[in-house]
Amino acid sequence: MKTTISQVNRFVGEEVTIGAWLANKRSSGKIAFLQLRDGTGFIQGVVVKAEVEEEIFKKAKSLTQETSLYVTGVVTEDERSPFGYELQVKDVEVIHEAVDYPITPKEHGTEFLMDHRHLWLRSRKQHAVMKVRNEIIRATYEFFNKEGFVKVDPPILTGSAPEGTTELFATKYFDEDAYLSQSGQLYMEAAAMALGKVFSFGPTFRAEKSKTRRHLIEFWMIEPEMAFVTFNENLEVQEQYVSYIVQSVLENCKLELERLGRDTSKLEQIKAPFPRISYDDAIKLLHEKGFDDITWGDDFGAPHETAIAESYDKPVFITHYPTSLKPFYMQPDADRDDVVLCADLIAPEGYGEIIGGSERIHDAELLKQRIEEHDLATDAYKWYLELREYGSVPHSGFGLGLERTVAWISGVEHVRETIPFPRLLNRLYP
Ligand code: 4AD
Ligand code: MG
Repeated sequence: MKTTISQVNRFVGEEVTIGAWLANKRSSGKIAFLQLRDGTGFIQGVVVKAEVEEEIFKKAKSLTQETSLYVTGVVTEDERSPFGYELQVKDVEVIHEAVDYPITPKEHGTEFLMDHRHLWLRSRKQHAVMKVRNEIIRATYEFFNKEGFVKVDPPILTGSAPEGTTELFATKYFDEDAYLSQSGQLYMEAAAMALGKVFSFGPTFRAEKSKTRRHLIEFWMIEPEMAFVTFNENLEVQEQYVSYIVQSVLENCKLELERLGRDTSKLEQIKAPFPRISYDDAIKLLHEKGFDDITWGDDFGAPHETAIAESYDKPVFITHYPTSLKPFYMQPDADRDDVVLCADLIAPEGYGEIIGGSERIHDAELLKQRIEEHDLATDAYKWYLELREYGSVPHSGFGLGLERTVAWISGVEHVRETIPFPRLLNRLYP
């Protein structure tokens, strides 16, 4: 029977054939252990000299790393392996021999691995990270479907700049100027007025000259938007959603988290509600922690976010930032107009901001004024203003950065390992 590694549990005691690659190998005079992978998982194949034809044992011993093969053997249960199964190999058929595979089991430098990202993806660690990413995406669709949201796809080529004009990738759109989307939010606001509760999931682009472990040039964002939802209700959706994806990964990626060496006790605590701290109080907290030179009106950098997050064992919302620090579309606080009804969600353990969200301005006059203050091309925002002219309602939404969330939940240091082919400052290859 031909099967995959992920499904060998259906064939215990039976003979199966698996298409696989040789990830690694150990052998002695009498026995060879083949570490096999087929993409769906990893399994050890055991070739015992006394139990196979001499020529098969010889072939197994001479296999090179990443050679592709068909392996035939009997599935047995094996309590010692975390996977729980082994293959007692009877036959090996080489499909294609790999010669001098560049990524050997020894240590390699980051730049070397990044240059070989197309092959590095085959490693156990990268495999585990991609499975966690996939589970977060799966749980995202499940959560929003369960909660009655409709998936809507905003355009990638746009004429508007929701998050400011300095970090745009410009391109030509025939005779017009266009940009690659930095956020689908403005379109999602239109969609919320048509469909109530909506979410998007797609790539976004920021020409940021940042070279940190949290920044990608191209990253994927999940952007929910909700009509008739105000500031606090928006935070409640966010904490429910983030708890849901963390618990889903704990439930469905046990092997992967183990492979990544993730301390799962920290993730088990991630359940709603999450703590909230105002920007004003965050400034006070930072002063108490010895950050003397930060003053009201300054934006937080990575060290500030990490210091604030250290006071909590769950993600923390920093709320009510100064108006001057945030984009044009945020609703001012009703009691003071120097702060806006926004929140950033900061992940624990130094992973930084994973969500940015806010209540949106729903008054046409105020919005128009803000567009002018921010020097935005009013023509490009005409349609956005019209949303406030025909039955405008309070509404709120947020954007979760997928890669930073994957980094946090997997416990990997840098976002470059959380996306199949990272686009970084100075890296467009492979
Ligand atoms: O805080 P941001 O810029 O918010 C928005 O774009 C809103 N329009 C979203 C909305 O309300 N619909 O980005 C949202 C999230 C950040 O919290 C962060 O997780 C991620 O996107 N992000 C990045 N991730 C990787 N690399 C970058 N350069 C990122 N910039 C933002
Ligand atoms: Mg932000």
